[in-house]
Amino acid sequence: MQTISLLLLLICATCRIASSIKDGLLPNGNFEYGPKPSEMKGTKVVSPKAIPNWEISGVVEYIKSGQKQGDMLLIVPEGAFAVRLGNDALIKQTMKVIKGMFYSLTFSAARTCAQEERLNVSVSPNYEKNDYGLFPIQTMYSSNGWDSYAWAFQADEPLIEISIHNPGVEEDAACGPLIDSVALKTLYPPKRTPANLLKNGNFEEGPYIFPNTSWGVLIPPHIEDDHSPLPGWIIESLKAVKYIDSEHFSVPEGKRAIELVAGKESALAQVVKTTIGRSYVLSFTVGDANNACEGSMVVEAFAGKNTVKASYQSKGKGGFKRAILAFKAESSRTRIMFYSTFYTMKSDNSGSLCGPVLDDVKLLSVRKLHHV
Ligand SMILES: *[C@@H]1O[C@H](CO)[C@@H](O)[C@H](O)[C@H]1NC(C)=O
Ligand SMILES: *[C@@H]1O[C@H](CO)[C@@H](O)[C@H](O)[C@H]1NC(C)=O
Repeated sequence: MQTISLLLLLICATCRIASSIKDGLLPNGNFEYGPKPSEMKGTKVVSPKAIPNWEISGVVEYIKSGQKQGDMLLIVPEGAFAVRLGNDALIKQTMKVIKGMFYSLTFSAARTCAQEERLNVSVSPNYEKNDYGLFPIQTMYSSNGWDSYAWAFQADEPLIEISIHNPGVEEDAACGPLIDSVALKTLYPPKRTPANLLKNGNFEEGPYIFPNTSWGVLIPPHIEDDHSPLPGWIIESLKAVKYIDSEHFSVPEGKRAIELVAGKESALAQVVKTTIGRSYVLSFTVGDANNACEGSMVVEAFAGKNTVKASYQSKGKGGFKRAILAFKAESSRTRIMFYSTFYTMKSDNSGSLCGPVLDDVKLLSVRKLHHV
């Protein structure tokens, strides 16, 4: 009897470790469990292991929702607590993962008082290259000041350490971004199918979106494209695209889509193998996310040197239309690319950037173009 219960206990213990790699929040990923009062000086956390499941260094503050800083009321998107990464502050957590698998990390951040706030997200060990993501968090896209960001990596070991670091040093040591809700999701690299020469054309595979947040996830531009949080796609140019979910936005097809929020400064691209001289049809959906993003919108699509401008008149209430670009391949590799011609701002006086929604992108080889 005792042996059995011990066995059950052991099995349960294994279960709990394994459950830490389920898609969703990291253990204490929303910082709801905080330091003991004896491990804090005011709001500053003074012991490196005071926040359960995390290890910290530098100036880290434990922030309660509703806390005031000057005139600013600090809000917290998930639960009642968050952390603030001040001068040279770092938070890290060790995770059990599957070696060789791809993961995307999503976290929410809000800027506070520093001039130029950015975060350095990294994973170790990382043998192939010094892999990290640098996130400037100057531009706000949501109206409440919080945005969520995604980054992706391949696990080089079954035990990894995920770090979020504020490399900045400000005059006020406590200035720096607030962090909340850190989550991990396993990414399954999608394959081409006979029905679509593009991978992940409907954007269903992508980073974790917090069920309780209504502002989507920003996918920043990638310098190296070998592992994108949006499998198959490269975010080019300077600014992020926004990954949106059907629970909070109008999504033309399936549960996920992309909102092109930064005009020509954020482009979405994929390179596909094509046969020179063969005819292809690129088709895609352009719409709006039902997020008060109104006006004339244009999505420009490129296939190599060929291009089409798909215009869409948005009332900001959701809706979409289909557009196509037929072309003859001039190369064995064709670059498919999309961007929004214009910057658009929400009509709700928030000043937030928004833009057209892109979804359900398909590339097919056709016998003759006039059959389209
Ligand atoms: C970001 O963090 C990584 C890993 O710690 C480090 O190697 C890299 O130099 C950092 N980059 C910047 C710009 O701080
Ligand atoms: C979402 O918010 C509700 C109410 O605030 C809370 O009970 C629930 O745990 C939250 N869900 C997640 C996944 O955080």
